[in-house]
Amino acid sequence: MATACVTGASSGIGRSFAEQLAARGYDLIVTGRRLEKLEELERDLAERYGVTTEIRLLELSERNALEDFAAELATREDLGYLVNNAGYGRGESFTEDSFSEHERMLAVHVTAPMRLAHAVAPVMKAAGAGVIVNVSSLASLLSSRSSLMYCATKACLNSFSESLALELGPHGVHVQLLLPGFTHTEFHRDSEVYPGRKRNRFLLRWMPAPQVVRLSLRDIDRGRIICVPGTANKLLQLLARQVPRGLRNKLSSGGISSAFTVDPPTEVAATDAEQVEEEESATREKGTGDRS
Ligand SMILES: NC(=O)c1ccc[n+]([C@@H]2O[C@H](COP(=O)([O-])OP(=O)(O)OC[C@H]3O[C@@H](n4cnc5c(N)ncnc54)[C@H](OP(=O)(O)O)[C@@H]3O)[C@@H](O)[C@H]2O)c1
Repeated sequence: MATACVTGASSGIGRSFAEQLAARGYDLIVTGRRLEKLEELERDLAERYGVTTEIRLLELSERNALEDFAAELATREDLGYLVNNAGYGRGESFTEDSFSEHERMLAVHVTAPMRLAHAVAPVMKAAGAGVIVNVSSLASLLSSRSSLMYCATKACLNSFSESLALELGPHGVHVQLLLPGFTHTEFHRDSEVYPGRKRNRFLLRWMPAPQVVRLSLRDIDRGRIICVPGTANKLLQLLARQVPRGLRNKLSSGGISSAFTVDPPTEVAATDAEQVEEEESATREKGTGDRS
């Protein structure tokens, strides 16, 4: 049985990747820093899918720990999937925050995905098969004074992923760049709107993590390199790419977090369910669609 490695699998999008890859029969290697969450995931996946889960407690900004993990992955000939998902956001001030804070984000969002991809790519190339998913963000297409390093590091990941797809594609290794929009996870737990009740506004549509992952895996099955999950997010991506930079910067100058608003969770759940249904029926009607 093939194995899938998911970084940041203790919650949110990473956990959903672990669940959905387990449902496809993959054994798992999962990373995170919260042991109890990963152990709970291990039990859950064993019960529901009968797969084996190996846990690696890992702070991805620690260079030695990352090197050890990369060395381990480089020996795993059974590895079919690498999902570089771990990431975080924080209210930032470039000048007031210490540079070590910025370096930490660079390490988690840029160095770690590159290092792990560099470790597994030769094995996958030799096998002529494999998938590498790099989880970026729609925010990577924007500028933001309150999420400057977040936008910058994710933009770097975009460029890296698209180029890597060109290098590895001819060898049978698929690279996907995943650009989620606002997603209900623990990502926003420290934001000013904790406990994480969010409202849809205009094109800003919150999605459940499992739906983001379903659309990502569907696009991998279709051979697409870039996945922007959800119709509203696709429109946002188009706008971000088409609107002149000056105007775009002006629009985003309020900061990404200004889009968050508090609302009753029941309403959010209903809206999500409607959006999921809309997405899935649009997909059914549309059939195969464009290749990104
Ligand atoms: N939620 C959104 O709205 C959204 C939108 C666009 C993109 N994304 C991206 O989606 C990815 C997953 O985030 P999520 O929304 O699912 O958030 P989440 O629920 O907070 O999950 C983040 C995961 O990353 C791990 N992680 C964070 N910092 C780490 C570090 N320094 N070292 C090791 N592991 C670390 C966390 O593990 P522990 O806490 O156990 O350490 C956790 O498993 C991130 O790359 C994020 O940038 C999220």
